[in-house]
Amino acid sequence: MRLQKFLARAGVASRRGAEELIGAGRVRVNGAAVAEMGTKVDPERDVVEVDGARVLPPAGERTVLMLHKPVGYVTTMRDAHARRIVADLVPSGRYPGLFPVGRLDRDTTGLLLFSTDGELGHALLHPRGHVTKRYVALVEGVVGRREAEALRRGVVLDDGPTLPAEVEVLSGRAADLAREALVLPEAQAKKMPREQARALRAGCGAGAGACSCVRLGIREGRNRQVRRMLACVGHPVLALHRESFGPLDLGSLPAGEWRVLDAAEVAALAKAAAGE
Ligand code: URA
Repeated sequence: MRLQKFLARAGVASRRGAEELIGAGRVRVNGAAVAEMGTKVDPERDVVEVDGARVLPPAGERTVLMLHKPVGYVTTMRDAHARRIVADLVPSGRYPGLFPVGRLDRDTTGLLLFSTDGELGHALLHPRGHVTKRYVALVEGVVGRREAEALRRGVVLDDGPTLPAEVEVLSGRAADLAREALVLPEAQAKKMPREQARALRAGCGAGAGACSCVRLGIREGRNRQVRRMLACVGHPVLALHRESFGPLDLGSLPAGEWRVLDAAEVAALAKAAAGE
């Protein structure tokens, strides 16, 4: 396997990023620095290091799975602080090399992908792929046309303007369903007094304590982006859930459960990552 492919499949960097690491002399194979792009490695036998740290060989068969992340879990595979982490919920022993594709905040619920194929993971997160992630948010206040339009066009955050987004303010039955789904996990995780949870569930109207449900589709994946976008237009997020990632919907997968994607789903993801 070519060295840059090995590094990309192992999740070290994109293929282009791997080429830069090689060009910069940061990669060693069996103890010797390598600057040749075409260098071939045997994933099982050769010892590859980046900046002195061993890179484990990528898994032979690629496995991609989705987890319905519950509220209160940190997106990491290791944690020194003994917090609840997503690694506790997925079968990483059965699928060595499994890592989360991007992250959801501790209090965000919904679809989180995992892959043993670093290259696919990087491609899915690269803004070039423009893979749309769709969220439903319960927010403070009544979201009006002006704010929805501002989100649609893009807002300016402290790390730069956002790309245009898909925005739909939910009403009627759709809002009722979204509110039910969003409030319950949040209320349980935060041990919210029953009164407060009931008020939140009932609160999507006018007046003090009003809230709204908004569906937002974004193609980027900046840190806490959805929360920051909604706060920027004056509607702080009370609860956030990711319902889809590119062509994949969470469907009826229960919170805390995972399932392995089938070949057609992985192919659809790879296609989306390639911008097709
Ligand atoms: N945007 C956020 O603000 N939080 C998430 O967890 C995901 C997207």
